[in-house]
Amino acid sequence: MRAASIAVIACLFSRTIAQTFQRLGGCPELGCVFPPDQADFLPGQYFDIRLEVHSPINGSEQRVGGPDENFTFTIAKKGGNPVPATEFFNVEDPKLESWNFTWYEDLFAQDMNKPSVVNATAKAFRRVALYEPGEYEATLTYYGTQKTVANWLIRDIPTKRRAKNVILFIGDGMTTNMITAARLLAHRSINGKYMTKMALDKFPVLGHQMTHSMDSFITDSANSATALYSGHKTTVNALNVYVDSSSDPFDDPKFETISEIFRRRHAHAGVGIVSTAFLADATPAGLAAHTSDRGEYDHVIGAYYEGLTKYEWTDWDGPDVLLGAGAEDFLESEANQRDYYKLFSEKGYNVAWNNTALHDAPLDEKLLGVFQTSNLATWLDRNVYQANLHNQSNYPDGSDRDADDLPGLKDMTLKAIDVLHERHGDQGWFLMSEAASIDKQMHSLDYDRSLGELLELDDTVRATIERLEHLGELDDTLIIVTADHGHGFDVTGSVDTEYMDAQDEDRDKRKAIGYYRESGLSQYTVGGPNALRYSEGVHFPARWDPRYTLHSGVVAFPDHRENYQVHSEGPRTPAATSKDKKNGYYAAYKDAVTGFLVNGTLPVDAGQGVHSLTDVPVFAQGPCQELFGGVYNSIDIFFNMAECLGLSETKQNSHGHSGKKGGK
Ligand SMILES: *[C@@H]1O[C@H](CO)[C@@H](O)[C@H](O)[C@H]1NC(C)=O
Ligand SMILES: *[C@@H]1O[C@H](CO)[C@@H](O)[C@H](O)[C@H]1NC(C)=O
Ligand SMILES: *[C@@H]1O[C@H](CO)[C@@H](O)[C@H](O)[C@H]1NC(C)=O
Ligand SMILES: *[C@@H]1O[C@H](CO)[C@@H](O)[C@H](O)[C@H]1NC(C)=O
Ligand SMILES: *[C@@H]1O[C@H](CO)[C@@H](O)[C@H](O)[C@H]1NC(C)=O
Ligand SMILES: *[C@@H]1O[C@H](CO)[C@@H](O)[C@H](O)[C@H]1NC(C)=O
Ligand SMILES: *[C@@H]1O[C@H](CO)[C@@H](O)[C@H](O)[C@H]1NC(C)=O
Ligand SMILES: [Zn+2]
Repeated sequence: MRAASIAVIACLFSRTIAQTFQRLGGCPELGCVFPPDQADFLPGQYFDIRLEVHSPINGSEQRVGGPDENFTFTIAKKGGNPVPATEFFNVEDPKLESWNFTWYEDLFAQDMNKPSVVNATAKAFRRVALYEPGEYEATLTYYGTQKTVANWLIRDIPTKRRAKNVILFIGDGMTTNMITAARLLAHRSINGKYMTKMALDKFPVLGHQMTHSMDSFITDSANSATALYSGHKTTVNALNVYVDSSSDPFDDPKFETISEIFRRRHAHAGVGIVSTAFLADATPAGLAAHTSDRGEYDHVIGAYYEGLTKYEWTDWDGPDVLLGAGAEDFLESEANQRDYYKLFSEKGYNVAWNNTALHDAPLDEKLLGVFQTSNLATWLDRNVYQANLHNQSNYPDGSDRDADDLPGLKDMTLKAIDVLHERHGDQGWFLMSEAASIDKQMHSLDYDRSLGELLELDDTVRATIERLEHLGELDDTLIIVTADHGHGFDVTGSVDTEYMDAQDEDRDKRKAIGYYRESGLSQYTVGGPNALRYSEGVHFPARWDPRYTLHSGVVAFPDHRENYQVHSEGPRTPAATSKDKKNGYYAAYKDAVTGFLVNGTLPVDAGQGVHSLTDVPVFAQGPCQELFGGVYNSIDIFFNMAECLGLSETKQNSHGHSGKKGGK
């Protein structure tokens, strides 16, 4: 009796450990099925299946008897009999693979460098699909009698197309708190009432999406982009695959994205991708790449260029429009052996390297625009502190010139719409436009730059609606504005920067912070050329350096100093480390020198802020807008967009087949 209860406690304890250090995300048992339990699918969406059986060689789960080479896998439609998957999909039994992998069971094991070793046997079914809506039970049987069951749902989604075009705006890392702060910076109020609205404030439908990842409750942008574009939750750093335990970043089980399905079902549909990030970054990459490692940049650019033809996965031909930054991934180098500019232009793309060339590019041809190396300079640097654009040696052709004729999100998005409309005005198009540096500047605690990006997104949404109206496409276009995750940002008052600067002691400096009644009113709309404008239209602060600034911050951060003033000399670096990084990050001695020291709350190896748990808003207008009200999961954005575009492919009487035979 006693022994039994101790065993129960030990078991619970090891499960607790397995929460943060996992043998394999999505696989608490020794048998793994991917897509895992609770996966949802669009009818007709292509996907791979990965099966693994683990034989832990040592560690707490150690198992004698060696790996299982004889596991079996069946699929049953609810109420029906289990059928071997080979028969169900009418394919040959895939070949058995095997490998070893290691993992740490907890921080102690990691400190002692004592990994647990696991021997895995595995199989993969490639590119299959399920067409008949309903519940399915996928069962892996291993070690004779053990079973891992994955319940899959093929959603019952109407096939009727309701929208010609879809625009998905992603404010990376954007939360309701940030929108509230941006509104305070750029819109005047009288006695507690705003005189003007943000473009986002005018949307008819507002929802909330939950951003949790498959195996952790905080997501990164790759993982969440995957959920938004494919309807599948996955693991941090993964793009449109479930992460298996093999070391190969390209053999993981893939699933089809909205851009791939849209193009497969409608040969003349248009696809556009716009981002202020480097184009190999996760949020744009999620519309093309399939890899367990978002850092495989060459694979990402290759996927824009040629799709996944080498995996016989898709015939998609790349986007019509691809606009952003990150020239280093297009230039020939050690990391990428190919000159992608040359390849893209040989494939019929016009290549633009500056804003003038972007505006001049013809509308009826494919367009690649890469405007500088790294991420695009922020709105604040492009529009207010332009001296920061000099001496950067970042022109996208790889020369040492400065990129100083830069487009913003609005220029890129409007051009993308014009090209898509010209090329695909009949069949419709899908455009993703990302304000990437809301997130990037939040990470570096540069709140002014982040909120500037958010206001640029709002202005882009406003201008987009105007342009669609002008083109006669507004009523046929579903517009969604959402985020992929949040940061724990908020505003709690104001700061008298003059008073703070005049104090010598850290504890005295904090007296400059006014909260509740002493927070006062926003000074950002006072003075400057735009001071007295109550009109609708473009809204940015009249000034970024008033005496009374916002007292703002995030919930998790490294050591840093804070003086609550705009970083006019360039984007902020709040924490620094020695070259060898041995002792972790400390407050950067050059940053916010007139402020006080704030001790970090993150592990000392984190030099930046991190993402947070919060649900994020979803704004929708246009056909199907009603689908986006309420509280739901990130994957529902994919299913709703797919429903609106009529991408569901149901075939009664044929429950499944292999894509090789049936793909069109
Ligand atoms: C692990 O798997 C490999 C490959 O199948 C095999 O060669 C090896 O003997 C296995 N190791 C153990 C300890 O079972
Ligand atoms: C697996 O099946 C093969 C063929 O049926 C058999 O020879 C082998 O002993 C089995 N292996 C195990 C570990 O059961
Ligand atoms: C896996 O590990 C075992 C034991 O360490 C070793 O004998 C075997 O060769 C390894 N197999 C592979 C495929 O690396
Ligand atoms: C498991 O075996 C490996 C290789 O033999 C060893 O390095 C590691 O420390 C062992 N881990 C545990 C938890 O015993
Ligand atoms: C913009 O690009 C065009 C075409 O490459 C080039 O001729 C022009 O000099 C560029 N302008 C600037 C300001 O870099
Ligand atoms: C650019 O660098 C040069 C040489 O280091 C310097 O003389 C010049 O002032 C810098 N220009 C700007 C705008 O920072
Ligand atoms: C920051 O933490 C250090 C110890 O790590 C402590 O000595 C110091 O007083 C703290 N400073 C503040 C402002 O809390
Ligand atoms: Zn981020």
